[in-house]
Amino acid sequence: MAFHVMLVPTLGCPSDCKYCWSSEEGSPVMGVDIIKETVEWLKNFREEPVTFTFHGGEPLLAGYDFFLEALPLLANELSHLKPAFALQTNLWNMTPELARLFKEYNIPIGSSLDGPEELNDLQRGKGYYQRTMKGYEIAREEDLQVSFISTFTSYSIQYKEDIFNFFLENGLNLKLHPALPSLRDENPEKWALSSEEYGELLIYLLDQYLEHMDEIELKNIDHLCKCVFIRRGVVCTFVDCMGDTFAVGPDGSIYPCYRFVGMPEYVMGNVQDHPSMDDLAQSDAWKLLHDFKDYVDTECKKCSYIKFCRGGCPYNALSINEKTGKAEINGVDPHCTAYKMIFKEITKRATKEMLGSGMGMIQGVSDNNPQTKRGIMSIMLKQS
Ligand SMILES: C[S@@+](CC[C@H](N)C(=O)[O-])C[C@H]1O[C@@H](n2cnc3c(N)ncnc32)[C@H](O)[C@@H]1O
Ligand code: SF4
Ligand code: SF4
Repeated sequence: MAFHVMLVPTLGCPSDCKYCWSSEEGSPVMGVDIIKETVEWLKNFREEPVTFTFHGGEPLLAGYDFFLEALPLLANELSHLKPAFALQTNLWNMTPELARLFKEYNIPIGSSLDGPEELNDLQRGKGYYQRTMKGYEIAREEDLQVSFISTFTSYSIQYKEDIFNFFLENGLNLKLHPALPSLRDENPEKWALSSEEYGELLIYLLDQYLEHMDEIELKNIDHLCKCVFIRRGVVCTFVDCMGDTFAVGPDGSIYPCYRFVGMPEYVMGNVQDHPSMDDLAQSDAWKLLHDFKDYVDTECKKCSYIKFCRGGCPYNALSINEKTGKAEINGVDPHCTAYKMIFKEITKRATKEMLGSGMGMIQGVSDNNPQTKRGIMSIMLKQS
């Protein structure tokens, strides 16, 4: 089974998005020494293929020289793991030089834009849109593949049609994040999207996608339909991610995912010690996340979707115990309601199509909804 290492060169970021769960002022920036130690750590860690995603904070703050040294080290010294790369960035610091380097390593780029300029800048700060679009143009000039995350909040959900049309009309591929309360924020609920709203949003986007599949890629809908079709999670949210996903912070600390970087209670080890899987398994963070797996096996036992939901994301499920101040698991992912809504809708439509015309199922044209041109099977069978 392939595994995933997120490299977080810094939690620093020049932007100040209102709901951000990641950025941290004054965060140190990773040096190439940590990449060298990461290489040593992974040489004998596992045998399977690895994907490295540069994440943040804002990873491009690490600068051109860092990537110029880091990429060949990871690609050449770990060639037996067939490394693939990805990058998640706001693109503000993209330069032609960096874009050429990323092209050389065939790196797909994820960026972040919440929708039209006014709405985006209200959530992500004035001037954000222009700076990201400038970086996008540079990336496109070097023929890099770029797709966008739009974070839907309690505010932007009112404009879901405008947001979808914005991405459609501008030919930008889209993935959505429902804004979650940040474990770092003093007013965490302000921007958070409720689970019911998220469920309705997914159903709305499912219909839009069926109409516009040739014009746009909507990754969450692709993933959700595939999960139901193959009855197994296809993204980290819907699998037992523990043990197959790691994040390395600026000082070499190893965490279960980028979302935990900078939170000392979730440190599982450090790349400089070249820990084995067994070493990491001794950490409290590992145990906490494994408690989540056991919790899901009990709590979600009767749910029809357990095989391809697995309780959702364990980070989302954590809550802070007000007495001890410590994070604990006492629920599943708070978006359970949304997952049930969309899995039910997909299952219902797929069943209806399968019971209908066999031709319709294969060609994906059998949905009875006059608004939609295709059926759900066309998404399930779509090549990724
Ligand atoms: C944390 S950023 C890091 C990479 C880069 N700076 C960027 O913005 O793409 C990755 C993604 O997480 C999203 N994000 C940040 N805080 C969030 C929250 N509280 N809930 C949901 N998504 C969030 C951001 O909008 C962004 O799309
Ligand atoms: S650009 Fe990314 S890391 Fe920076 S504040 Fe916005 S969401 Fe957070
Ligand atoms: S939909 Fe809810 S109850 Fe069902 S497996 Fe997912 S989190 Fe558990």
